Amino acid sequence: MSTTTAIEKSEEKVYPPSSEAVAHALIDAAKYDEMYAASINDPQAFWNEHGKRIDWIKPYTIVQNTSFEPGNVDIRWFEDGTLNVSANCIDRHLPTRGNQTAIIFEPDDPKEPAQSISYNDLHRRVCRMANILEDLGVRKGDRVVIYLPMIPEAAYAMLACARVGAIHSIVFAGFSPDALAARVNGSDAKVVITADEAPRGGRKTPLKSNADAALLHCKDTVKCLVVKRTGGQTTWVDGRDFDYNEMALEADDYSKPAEMSAEDPLFILYTSGSTGQPKGVVHSSGGYLVFASMTHEYVFDYHDGDVFWCTADVGWVTGHSYIVYGPLANGATTVMFEGVPTYPDASRFWQVCDKHKVNQFYTAPTALRALMGQGNEFVEKCDLSSLRILGTVGEPINPEAWNWYHDVVGKGRCPIVDTWWQTETGGHLLTPLPGAHATKPGSAMKPFFGVNPVVLDPHSGEEIDSYPCEGVLCLKDSWPSQMRTVWGDHERFEKTYFSDYKGYYFAGDGCKRDDDGDYWITGRVDDVINVSGHRMGTAEVESALVAHAAVAEAAVVGYPHDIKGQGIYCYVTLMNDREPSDALVKELRQWVRTEIGPIASPDVIQWAPGLPKTRSGKIMRRILRKIAENDFGSLGDTSTLADPSVVDDLIANRAG
Ligand code: WTA
Repeated sequence: MSTTTAIEKSEEKVYPPSSEAVAHALIDAAKYDEMYAASINDPQAFWNEHGKRIDWIKPYTIVQNTSFEPGNVDIRWFEDGTLNVSANCIDRHLPTRGNQTAIIFEPDDPKEPAQSISYNDLHRRVCRMANILEDLGVRKGDRVVIYLPMIPEAAYAMLACARVGAIHSIVFAGFSPDALAARVNGSDAKVVITADEAPRGGRKTPLKSNADAALLHCKDTVKCLVVKRTGGQTTWVDGRDFDYNEMALEADDYSKPAEMSAEDPLFILYTSGSTGQPKGVVHSSGGYLVFASMTHEYVFDYHDGDVFWCTADVGWVTGHSYIVYGPLANGATTVMFEGVPTYPDASRFWQVCDKHKVNQFYTAPTALRALMGQGNEFVEKCDLSSLRILGTVGEPINPEAWNWYHDVVGKGRCPIVDTWWQTETGGHLLTPLPGAHATKPGSAMKPFFGVNPVVLDPHSGEEIDSYPCEGVLCLKDSWPSQMRTVWGDHERFEKTYFSDYKGYYFAGDGCKRDDDGDYWITGRVDDVINVSGHRMGTAEVESALVAHAAVAEAAVVGYPHDIKGQGIYCYVTLMNDREPSDALVKELRQWVRTEIGPIASPDVIQWAPGLPKTRSGKIMRRILRKIAENDFGSLGDTSTLADPSVVDDLIANRAG
């Protein structure tokens, strides 16, 4: 599936916003134009006004103070204001909506009853968890790692950290003990919050034993707070492990929200880059919350009383911004789903939409592609008349999946918001607004308020002003929820995002801008691959492979995959004394799953007696990508290779 053909094929298709969407909309076309112009012409005045959408303990007087200047990158928003994020997500709603449902929890097993947690309940639970954390010695600025299933306690834990001013770092429950240990140590966390087991798709991941294995590699002082989810057997280390459910019975129902500076970090979230190990993306308290809540309201056209469902996991940024912080700051009802789209069968998503009368549904293209292949009857047997807005995120959506979403799920009634953004951006940067913009299958369309995208020529670094055009996507100015730094390594922050194109934030994505000025993301231009909407650094998989005793060298690239978007293709050179075998393929696959997690599992392993290298020893990944893509006609210039014959061997023995 090449993005180019997708664009050419679908460019004729334009869906203007329906009259229903326009009539309902918080923002119509005229309002968007007016607000967008204001946000770009005078960002200080614009954000001075919109920063007030959240409650401040001490109001800010300084709005934007940001610099993208090389060597001096510094991002601050609302810097002299103070606030508490948990008070914004809970306490301020209590007088008006204490009994309204804040969180609907839908368990993995549909036979287990769903739970409705009101804002009053949420307040009590979060206060108790905050008091427990304080009992365990957690103070303002300390780090807490959260390694939990998609259960309400994950939201309580996040908000409890925010309440006491601790910085949370969530580790996706699918990550391995090694990955967990690296993140606990990387942020020098005081406490790890986990659960006995994580039920998912009818299976159980042993989270507590994973945490036990991880904690062997962490400081002795790290404490482990354990939530009971399944009641499954766990081992217990006295003095280190603490029983959350028992402590919650005793804990006080009130905890005073700490007064935090706008720029105090709210969370760290590790994400993959093109080089090295994952880096800790740091987000602020004030600017992040302003932007997460504003995008949640306008992009999903969220009205009071709506039921909003984002199917992501809280282990990813999408879950942070659009399950927890954005919706709860807006006093919304947000669905937390523990399961998977295909369990017990392929109608689960639609059954949950039907059951909870979901109004806005937000998911990833990879899930749509998987469900699309199962047949329409799984959708059609459910009543989806409550749906008003559909959203996608995480990877480019192919027009086939877009059209299926639009026609079969949305019955042609629901605008699709294709939201482009990143862990680093904290919230949506490019997206149509449902009542303001037309949509086109595969296009992320327009910049959100305050977002100033430019297309640069990748070679000259010059801005391209013509339409249509193609190049790399950069941002010319800051927005409130921009990441502030890489945890413990500001230099890496500058180098990764601000050094390739001076004076700009470089996203790592390629894009096109069409005649109408609408944006189309064409995918990563670096060594990051996107597997089922999950970001994976090829360098991480390579370093996991070479850590195996049989492997001398490895090179990993992405290749097009029908369901996952991209698959993981590994070229492996074995040690001299090792022979290739099917058993070894299996072993290496399992090895990577153990080192990183199942999401990094190699799709294809090809034995490579040699890798194509330049005379200076640099691996020519461009060639490896082409071979993996089965595109031998355009290998380009191979004359600079130290040994051109290795390419013939790789082509002759292409796997998969
Ligand atoms: C990709 C997820 C095309 C992109 C929120 C980006 C997308 C990376 C889209 C970030 C989209 C995200 N269309 N590509 N609508 N949304 N991407 O950090 O390559 O997990 O750089 O954040 O996903 O992935 P991340």
